[in-house]
Amino acid sequence: MARDGAVYVCQSCGAAQSKWAGQCPACGTWNTLVEEVQSRPPGALAPSKTAKTRGLVFQGLESQTPAPPRIATGIDEFDRVCGGGVVPGSAILVGGDPGVGKSTLLLQVVGSASRRGASCAYISGEEAVEQIRGRAHRMGLADAPVRLAAETSLREILDGLKRDRFDLVVIDSIQTMWSDAHEAAPGSVTQVRAAAGELVRLAKKQGVAVILVGHVTKEGTIAGPRVIEHMVDAVLAFEGERGYPFRVLRGVKNRFGATDEIGVFEMGDSGLNEVRNPSALFLDTSGERAAGAAVFAGIEGSRPVLVEFQALVAPSAYGTPRRAVVGWDSGRLAMVLAVLEARCGVSLGNRDVYLNVAGGLRINEPAADLAAAAALASSALDIALPQDCVVFGEISLSGDIRGVSRMDSRLKEAAKLGFKQALGPSDLDGGPLKISGVKRLADAIARIGGGDWT
Ligand code: TYD
Ligand code: MG
Repeated sequence: MARDGAVYVCQSCGAAQSKWAGQCPACGTWNTLVEEVQSRPPGALAPSKTAKTRGLVFQGLESQTPAPPRIATGIDEFDRVCGGGVVPGSAILVGGDPGVGKSTLLLQVVGSASRRGASCAYISGEEAVEQIRGRAHRMGLADAPVRLAAETSLREILDGLKRDRFDLVVIDSIQTMWSDAHEAAPGSVTQVRAAAGELVRLAKKQGVAVILVGHVTKEGTIAGPRVIEHMVDAVLAFEGERGYPFRVLRGVKNRFGATDEIGVFEMGDSGLNEVRNPSALFLDTSGERAAGAAVFAGIEGSRPVLVEFQALVAPSAYGTPRRAVVGWDSGRLAMVLAVLEARCGVSLGNRDVYLNVAGGLRINEPAADLAAAAALASSALDIALPQDCVVFGEISLSGDIRGVSRMDSRLKEAAKLGFKQALGPSDLDGGPLKISGVKRLADAIARIGGGDWT
């Protein structure tokens, strides 16, 4: 029986239940329901008989609000993902796996911003001041006028931030903060929500930009920052494949800018280095391109990025052949394989298929379909694509190749990196490259198989 006022809150999705259960009825994860005492049932308003309201005032759309001013932190890759700098009074959530480099990135952000005259604070609930200082020294930030603090009590932090006014404050991490107004344990959904709510309120009230760090785990063993995504103005995901030095900061939600923007960094010995030309980094332009490789001319946010799709088609040793994908969607791979089989007669049903986007970047664009198909066909036929060829185009279930967005930017970037030809949709306009336009996937496969590129 639940105690009076007690609810069981799923630490993964935040759904509240009146009874404990092994599995969350809302999201289906196991062992995530935790008892949390709430002063009122969720969603209920305070008794309203005596409460006075101010009266709601409506306003028109016509008034001219100037574009919000921005704090340029000087880390351009970060500023671009934020929409051109950080907006004062906004709250930004930076989420990512533990160890991906969130603390490193944000220490660099406040270091750079403070050198440019913004007053910045970095409050850590995870590391001692001495530890942060040591890291800052290693990263060459020893002279940056950042104010450091190690604190987990929300009351102390709010008090401190009311006393000393800052332009930009980093809270690392939101899961370590706790409010004494709630009985729930630090890191629980109730605490994370309460802490985020208070900090967002402070941001709006004082016009200070607050960056909240949130750890994300796939297992959902710690309260996901998902439960506070709706409270903040921007959600940025910091991603990286294990074993690769590259890190990508991706806008997931942004009230002050485009959401598909990415910033690319490389983790080095003295922190993260900005990568201004990602194509050159993700692409290995030296040496022959092997069978099974196709260079995809993609667009990430506002920038064209060239990456290599690598495929390996091999005889299967098992009854059920393996399908393994890194950096691309496995559902999309299944579709491309089905279209290859049904429309082009390339049957890979009884073979193992491995597909890898080189460099550790994750590609989400449908425009990558043709590059994946070309890499697969090239591996299956054991015929390499021309060294100087880029590929892009969306594949429909009927086997047609569809046009994609911003084709000239893709071609221009390819030309800049020394590519001479492109395999793509038939309505492609050449510009600097020689174009092999194809209407159907079967035509593209025939071209790869016949080595006929004229
Ligand atoms: P960190 O920023 O602590 O990760 P997070 O805050 O997301 O948990 O980064 C930790 C990793 O980064 C750690 O494995 C060491 C590595 N690192 C470098 O390789 N070079 C550096 O200069 C720094 C500061 C960290
Ligand atoms: Mg950290």
